[in-house]
Parts: sequence; structure tokens; C-alpha cells
Amino acid sequence: MNLTLRGNWNYPTTIWAGPGRIVELPQACAAAGIRRPLIVTDEGLIGAPMIRQALAALKDAALFGAVRGNPALSHVEAGLRAYRAGGHDGVVAFGGGSALDAGKVVAFMSGQTRPLWDFEDIGDWWTRADERGIAPVVAVPTTAGTGSEVGRAGVVLNEATHQKKIIFHPKMMPGVVISDPELTIGLPAGVTAATGIDAFVHCFEAYCAPGFHPLADGIALEGMRLIQIYLPRACENGKDIEARSRMLAAASMGATAFQKGLGAVHAIAHPVGAFFNTHHGLTNAVILPYVIVHNRPAIEPQLRVIARTLDLAGEPFAAFFDWVLEFRRRLRIPHTLADIGVTLKDPDTIGREASLDPSAGSNPVPTDATTYARLFRSAVKGDLELAG
Ligand SMILES: NC(=O)c1ccc[n+]([C@@H]2O[C@H](COP(=O)([O-])OP(=O)(O)OC[C@H]3O[C@@H](n4cnc5c(N)ncnc54)[C@H](O)[C@@H]3O)[C@@H](O)[C@H]2O)c1
Ligand SMILES: [Fe+2]
Repeated sequence: MNLTLRGNWNYPTTIWAGPGRIVELPQACAAAGIRRPLIVTDEGLIGAPMIRQALAALKDAALFGAVRGNPALSHVEAGLRAYRAGGHDGVVAFGGGSALDAGKVVAFMSGQTRPLWDFEDIGDWWTRADERGIAPVVAVPTTAGTGSEVGRAGVVLNEATHQKKIIFHPKMMPGVVISDPELTIGLPAGVTAATGIDAFVHCFEAYCAPGFHPLADGIALEGMRLIQIYLPRACENGKDIEARSRMLAAASMGATAFQKGLGAVHAIAHPVGAFFNTHHGLTNAVILPYVIVHNRPAIEPQLRVIARTLDLAGEPFAAFFDWVLEFRRRLRIPHTLADIGVTLKDPDTIGREASLDPSAGSNPVPTDATTYARLFRSAVKGDLELAG
């Protein structure tokens, strides 16, 4: 065991970080007050040894594995049925962001009487929830990207309206996180790259979001620096446990930082993911440079600090922009949304939905639906000039 990669952190929640720490899952459940856990994971992981081992290690646990990427209300409802039928008293959310979000929302909804959409992240809607009805969660991330393990929200697709809705409550924060890099070594290079850039975009958008939040800003900068160094290493050698552990930490840092806000990359990625079922991180990774061009007039001061943090020489905007393009190329991220199956069928709808997305409010350049539609077109076509 590498002791330099091991730590117990209590910010923003209790995190037990280090290789091999998944063996402490029973203690994590006990610490979170869970005796009959429902393990929530996704279809892709249900047969994985790590899930079977978790089930074997936890007395009185059951498994719910019918979650898919971009989880929808129907997945949450099926999870809730399993939770109630099994008389569970908490959730082990185990997997990538999709499984973590679904598991967190199942635990949140387990004791609510109002419908899920009443808890969308709008104003103070979260105060509608009965806090006593929120079951505890232990989160075990197996991708290093979304940071959902330390987040107070879950993203759920409304299949009827094709909208990805953010369900928010401060008490949705998992009680204990096991951040074990050994669980991520089987993640293929492509998903490693896409999820890692999602974490980078969380840090980047949070840092550039307007508002005074020096705690988030500091975390965002260090998150970007870690990802610059360790994401290529994790992609080139999936078994590089040091890189995997740093990436898990950086992912949690991204989600911690974005309590400050996100921006146009996420505002566009949400409707694109809802309409085209593209992977969230990959969508962000493609869109990022187009939004950097669009936001340029408002983010030059931030880019000076980011370029310094990433040790990039030359004029800050050009240095950072070129580095982003090169980083994407090296990680084999496509340059256009068309490359990942997105079409120009209905740009106005994407533009409208992006302008209404909760992430749009903290984009450094106020952006209307027409401009979002133009940005979307530029990313589909790969036309950086159109984004400017
Ligand atoms: N709650 C938040 O704050 C937040 C933030 C960003 C994104 N999200 C949401 O998270 C979801 C995306 O999550 P994601 O990027 O982690 O992808 P994901 O959870 O959809 O997983 C992607 C794929 O990787 C597989 N996988 C996961 N771990 C693996 C492992 N260790 N080895 C091999 N395969 C593995 C999964 O089975 C799946 O096929 C989206 O729905 C997005 O909206 C939530
Ligand atoms: Fe994201």
C-alpha cells in the first residue's frame, strides 16, 4: 500500500482516500448509520467483481443495478421500488456519476411524498423536502470526473421533456465517501479522458464564474493543475495508481469548486446529452474550446492566473487556448459534436434549453438563446470562428 496516497479528509464531507480502502465499506456504512444498504450501480458494472465483493461484504445488503448513463426518472422510480421492497435504511451509491446520482436521488426520495420534479434546483424549492425522509448515503466513485460523490445534487433526465434536471438538497451530500483508486484502474482510456476533462471543466467554469468565492477558486486552480499532470498519465497507463488517486481527488475538487457556479459548457452539454444521449464528460470536452472563445472578453484576468498555475508561457489567452486544444488531441477527444453523433436538426431548441439551464446563470458572459444556438452550431461544425 502506498501511504502517501492515503488520507482521511473531512471537507466537504468525510472522505477515506487511498488504494485498497474499499475493504472499509462495512465500517463506512456503520459510520453513516446504514444497516440494510441498497447498493445502487449501473448496468455496465453490475457483473463487475468489485460489485459482487461489495455485496458479499455487506450483511443484509441488496443490489439494484438497473441504472444507465444519463439516468432518468424511470431508473429512480425502479430504484425506489427496490429500496422500499427490501426495507432498506440507506444507499451505497457505487459507480460513475450516473450510478452515484441515481443512488443519491433514491436515498433522497425514499421518505418524500411530493414528486421528484418539485425538488428541482430552482430558488428555495429544496426547502419543500422533508429532511427526516432523506436516507444516508455512502458513495463509492469508480470514475474520476463528475465529483458527484461530494455533491449535493443529482442530475436526472426527464424523458417526457428531454430535459436534464438538477435535483438539489444540501442533505443529499453523502455521509462517507470511499475514494479508492484501485476501483478505477479498469476504466478504459476513452472514458478516463472524457470523465477527467469533465472534472477539468468543473474547475475551469467554477474559477471563471463571477462572484466572490476564494475557497472555490483556490480548489479549482489546484484541481486544474492536478488534471494537467495526471490525466494523461492515467490515460496512457490505466494501472498508474498514483495518477488514478490524484484524478479521484481532482474530481472531488471540481465538484467542491462548482458550488460557486458552472457556465456555458455545462449549459450546452445538458440539453445535448438529453437529446442525443451523449456522454456528459465527452460532450463537455468537445464543447470547451468554443466556449473559451465566446467567453474571452470576460475571462482574460482569470486566464492570466490559470496560465500561471499551469505553467504556460506566452500571452495567457493564446497559451491556454493552444494548451486546451493540444490536451484534447493528446487525449483523443474529437473536435466536433458531429464526431460524437450530434446533428444540427434543431439548434434553436438546444439554444433555448441551454439558456434556461441552471449553469447558464453563472457564465461570465451573459448569453441568450440565439447566441447559445450559434455556439452549439459552431461546436457541431467545428467552426471556432463562429463561436467568437
Ligand atoms: N451530480 C453532479 O454534480 C454531476 C456532475 C457532473 C455530471 N453528472 C452526471 O453524471 C453522469 C455521468 O457520469 P460519468 O461521467 O461518471 O459516467 P457514467 O457513470 O455514465 O459511466 C460511464 C461508463 O463507464 C462505466 N464505468 C464506470 N466505472 C467503471 C470502471 N471502474 N471500470 C469500467 N467501466 C466503468 C459505466 O458502466 C458506464 O458504461 C451524467 O448523467 C451527468 O449528468 C453529475
Ligand atoms: Fe460536469
